[in-house]
This record gives sequence, structure tokens and C-alpha cells, in this order.
Amino acid sequence: MPSPSPLPTPTLIQLAAKHAGACLELDRAALGGIWSLAQWQRELEEKARPGLGLRQGQELLAMACGWLVVDELHITLVAVAPGHRRLGLGSRILQELMQAGRRSGATRATLEVSATNGPGKGLYEALGFRTAGIRRGYYRSGDDALIQWVNLKT
Ligand SMILES: CC(C)(COP(=O)(O)OP(=O)(O)OC[C@H]1O[C@@H](n2cnc3c(N)ncnc32)[C@H](O)[C@@H]1OP(=O)(O)O)[C@@H](O)C(=O)NCCC(=O)NCCS
Repeated sequence: MPSPSPLPTPTLIQLAAKHAGACLELDRAALGGIWSLAQWQRELEEKARPGLGLRQGQELLAMACGWLVVDELHITLVAVAPGHRRLGLGSRILQELMQAGRRSGATRATLEVSATNGPGKGLYEALGFRTAGIRRGYYRSGDDALIQWVNLKT
């Protein structure tokens, strides 16, 4: 019997206001819903807030968003659909966002990650992020936030 053909590589897309519904869906599935539809729409309309996605057919499998603040890229979220993890999508979308930040003049990138978020910490460490500070009890759960940075200069 012939083996099933592999799924096509997901396509990189620039997220725009028309993707707000898909972002909301992925946000709910991956992060428990951190932003409302109105917040997603606002986020995706802002030019200084780059957002990238990986799409397969009509399905948004991964996304990464950030804010450009002078020469810094502040990464606000990275999410991969639960059924598509450990396939390199998180790494790919985050690297694409870092590259987009570089092209826009960012020299370093920062983010906050919960001290209890093993997959997030693993991903960020693999891409060179290092902890520079801790916000104790920052999250509603009481967890600490690690403030991490990476140099974007090559
Ligand atoms: C964190 C997240 C984006 C990782 O996405 P992913 O597509 O599974 O990650 P990748 O397959 O690209 O993994 C890249 C590297 O990150 C690390 N990593 C990813 N998942 C990990 C896990 N569960 N445990 C430990 N390390 C992990 C590994 O170093 C991995 O490399 P490897 O697979 O060669 O070992 C995904 O788990 C997710 O969406 N989680 C929920 C949302 C979230 O917590 N986002 C981060 C905070 S905003």
C-alpha cells in the first residue's frame, strides 16, 4: 500500500485584521484566550505591532506577535495549535518574527514567560533568550514571570 503523502509545509503569512477570528481561535486553544476579538482586531491593525502566522489550508497552526518599541522587539505571544507541537513550528514562527524585527531596526528582543511554562522556556532558551530579571507573583496564578532578552544583531 502506498504511504500517505506528507502534509505540505505550512505557509508563512503576515497577520492582518482579517485574521482576527483565526487568531482568537488559536489564542483560545493554545493560551486559554488572552485577548478578546476586539483586542485582536486592534492588535492586527497596528503597523508597529508585527504579527506572523503559519497556515495550512485555512487553518492557522502557529502565530507570533510583537511590538516594535524604538530598537526593541517586545514579543507579546507565541502559540502553536495543540495538535501540531514539537514539529518545529514554534521555533520557525518565532525566528521569522525576530527576523522581521531585525529588518525593522530592532537590535534586541524581549519577552516574559512564566517560570512554570516548560515548553515556552525550552523554546526561548533554544533560540538564545536568557533571563535578565524576575517579576515575583506576576501572573494571576501567582507564578513568577521571567524577563528574557536576546541580542538580534548578527
Ligand atoms: C511553547 C510553544 C509555542 C512551543 O511550540 P512548538 O512548535 O511545540 O515548539 P518547537 O517544536 O519549535 O520546539 C523548539 C524547541 O523548543 C523546546 N521545546 C518545545 N516544546 C518543549 C517542551 N514541551 N518541553 C521542553 N522543551 C520544549 C525544545 O528545545 C524544542 O526543540 P526540540 O524539539 O528539538 O527539542 C507551544 O508549546 C505552545 O503553543 N504552548 C502554549 C502557548 C505558550 O505557552 N506560549 C509561550 C508563552 S506566550
